[in-house]
Amino acid sequence: MGLEQEIAKRRTFGIISHPDAGKTTLTEKLLLFGGAIQTAGAVKSNKITKTATSDFMEIEKQRGISVATSVMAFDYKDCLVNILDTPGHKDFAEDTFRTLTAVDSVILVIDCVKGVEEQTRRLMEVCRMRNTPVIVFVNKLDRDGKDPYDLLDELETELSISVRPLSWPINMGRDFKGVYLLHDGSLNLFEVNKTKRTESLMRFENLDEPQLDEIIGEKDAAKLREDVELINGVYEPFDVQMYREGLLAPVFFGSAVNNFGVQELLDTFIQIAPIPQGRSTDTRRVEPNESKFTGFVFKIHANLDPKHRDRIAFLRVCSGKFERNKFYHQVRLDKDLKFSNPYNFLAQSKQVVEAAYPGDVIGLYDTGNFKIGDTLTEGEEMTYKGIPSFSPEIFKEVVNLDPMKSKQLEKGIEQLTDEGVAQLFRQEPGNRKYIGVVGELQFEVIQYRLEHEYSAKCRFEALNFYKACWMTGPDDKIIDFCKYRPKEIVMDKDENRVYLASSPFVLQMARDNNPDITFHETSEFKV
Ligand code: G4P
Repeated sequence: MGLEQEIAKRRTFGIISHPDAGKTTLTEKLLLFGGAIQTAGAVKSNKITKTATSDFMEIEKQRGISVATSVMAFDYKDCLVNILDTPGHKDFAEDTFRTLTAVDSVILVIDCVKGVEEQTRRLMEVCRMRNTPVIVFVNKLDRDGKDPYDLLDELETELSISVRPLSWPINMGRDFKGVYLLHDGSLNLFEVNKTKRTESLMRFENLDEPQLDEIIGEKDAAKLREDVELINGVYEPFDVQMYREGLLAPVFFGSAVNNFGVQELLDTFIQIAPIPQGRSTDTRRVEPNESKFTGFVFKIHANLDPKHRDRIAFLRVCSGKFERNKFYHQVRLDKDLKFSNPYNFLAQSKQVVEAAYPGDVIGLYDTGNFKIGDTLTEGEEMTYKGIPSFSPEIFKEVVNLDPMKSKQLEKGIEQLTDEGVAQLFRQEPGNRKYIGVVGELQFEVIQYRLEHEYSAKCRFEALNFYKACWMTGPDDKIIDFCKYRPKEIVMDKDENRVYLASSPFVLQMARDNNPDITFHETSEFKV
């Protein structure tokens, strides 16, 4: 098969949701429907449970599971579907944000009882930054949730994206009878079944057919006719181009745990979701069908066994064909590397691959050559853009507890922050090290790993900062601004100056008093 055909059959996407909306369940059902697993319950939950917050090993075990389920590939109707898993726990949100740079589209799961939640909003902000196409799956229709019209309104206003329902529910909760598929005029009747695929489709040429009243009852049939008329009157016909440009999100309703609504979601997904797309680098845009291989690392996972300090770098293939045992150029290090055991992930197993194509994600054993955002090429000097750092929310200073081990501590902090576990800021002069994270859990992770992998001991001292801001503007203005705030100016790992603001009020003051400087809460302004 040629490169073009390999590209055309691939769909690489992520499933995102606020924890508990049903991401794990939906992932499992997609694998079930895709034939990648035979029974429900086979995929271990990748979520870090709330009770685990104080038990570090438990967290690591669960993170271990997440390596195995980081990418799940399966064949479905002539397509190769790559699902990139994203941790649901909010303390690992950065991981999720970075994974979103490696997908071509996402499926967003919403709980119909809760509607749009905090994580949903943040994740969607990241999708909006890159115009990632989004399909919405409103889950848990077997529960009494919000009115579907209200949910659609909420999605539009809270997520600033236009929506277009492609299916429509007939009641909810105990009275839930099924969904009507607006785009092909069929009725999918609901049956509670957690283990089997149970979709019974019935096609209607015309909703006025009296058979509809017999099946769902006169009252519900009348309501459905009214709803469909209203929806078709209010919404424009679904425009696939607008979806692919990230402007319009099609919406499906279903119940993942009951295998309901999943088939139509998957079938529509493979029809409309974009094939692997081109990506920008610091020198030019690269298209997937270019003959030379390029790719970037978006995630690094450490080996759980402290005796082996190797890691797995997850690389998204962006163009050309990746081949095992061929030398590729690590642009940042200006070094050629070859990989004898690259592997891919098929359902739950991983296996050595000979070749990989755009849209694929491969795991590369790494002994410290990679950092998140690194690019591999066949020699061209360029770096993929857009692996953003987001402002951390909690900041602490690292205090060395064993002066004899300061080298180890330094190395450990350096490597763990390369992996993206946290962000490192240095204060100059004095070389004080500040760690910024999204959630408290990361401090536990860092402390444990420093001790076990690097034999270094440290404690963290709380710092009173609220946001890290990257600055752009005229150099003299920035230098002037920094001069008066020596304690609040730090350097990130890429030697960018970063302003640590202590409160929303202080940040607003800085913005008001320095109109020439733009304060960015992510490092992605460079894109
Ligand atoms: P997450 O990955 O987004 O965090 O969510 P997950 O799939 O783990 O689902 C969260 C809870 O919601 C699970 O219940 C799951 O069974 C339930 N769930 C998922 N889909 C549906 C649905 O369509 N209807 C209903 N009623 N519930 C659904 P749990 O009690 O936390 O776990 P479990 O013991 O059921 O596995």
